[in-house]
Amino acid sequence: MQIFLDLPQLKAGIAALRSDGGRIALVPTMGALHAGHMALVADARARADHVVVSIFVNPLQFGQNEDFSVYPRREATDIAMLQAAGVSIVWTPQVSLMYPEGFASNLHVAGVSEGLDGVWRPGHFDGVATVVAKLFNQVRPDVACFGEKDYQQLAVIRRMVADLDLGIEIVGVPTQRDVDGLALSSRNAYLDSDQRARAIALPEALVMTGEAILSGGDVASALLRAEQHLLEHGFHSVDYFALCDAESLTPLARLDRPARLLVAARIGGTRLIDNIAVNP
Ligand code: PAF
Repeated sequence: MQIFLDLPQLKAGIAALRSDGGRIALVPTMGALHAGHMALVADARARADHVVVSIFVNPLQFGQNEDFSVYPRREATDIAMLQAAGVSIVWTPQVSLMYPEGFASNLHVAGVSEGLDGVWRPGHFDGVATVVAKLFNQVRPDVACFGEKDYQQLAVIRRMVADLDLGIEIVGVPTQRDVDGLALSSRNAYLDSDQRARAIALPEALVMTGEAILSGGDVASALLRAEQHLLEHGFHSVDYFALCDAESLTPLARLDRPARLLVAARIGGTRLIDNIAVNP
């Protein structure tokens, strides 16, 4: 496995991989890898001959009061995990390489990026789209894998790739969960043991609400009950609990097409997100 920190080296490494005519998969990450990321790598390996993983904590996607400076960084452990998983190249650029002085571009994907987390984290998806577009241009993969855990991110990237004719296959990999159902996330590390125990109310509320809607229950009342469930089980606020069109993420008042239930809620100082499919 090769580890690159500068662009000419990365380009040469990618060219060498390409010389055998094989397919290249990219798994973009911000490091602090867990089983969720390793599922992306395993999926990427099944779809391509060579896997490139980027590790870059992208400042553009963090708001002023968010956790950029304390976001977990565990590069040595990450690299050992990627080596064991059969990754060909790890790309770990510095912030100054990605955003040199004078960097002035911003990619905004209208519509799908503007509701849900787009309301609560202004500029977040512009930062995601901008860095992912850069990573795509640097690596030029045939296929790229993203977790369904960040479902809105996945929808934004799909839109961007279609709109800009990037010609990259985008794969959404199902969310990996702990045995009790909590979705794996690097931010789970912020939870103390009491908060961790209470956090399972999040997947519980999703499943409960999905079942209620599928059995014909009124969508608005089911969403309200879900918010109450979270507040009664230790979450102190709910940013949103919504049923949305699975592709455009426009809110739905009734289940009349493939949909997604999405939630963001706060426990202690930690904001957790999760989602499930709800198909009529
Ligand atoms: O999902 C993430 O870890 C990040 O948002 C991504 C896609 C690597 C872009 O920084």
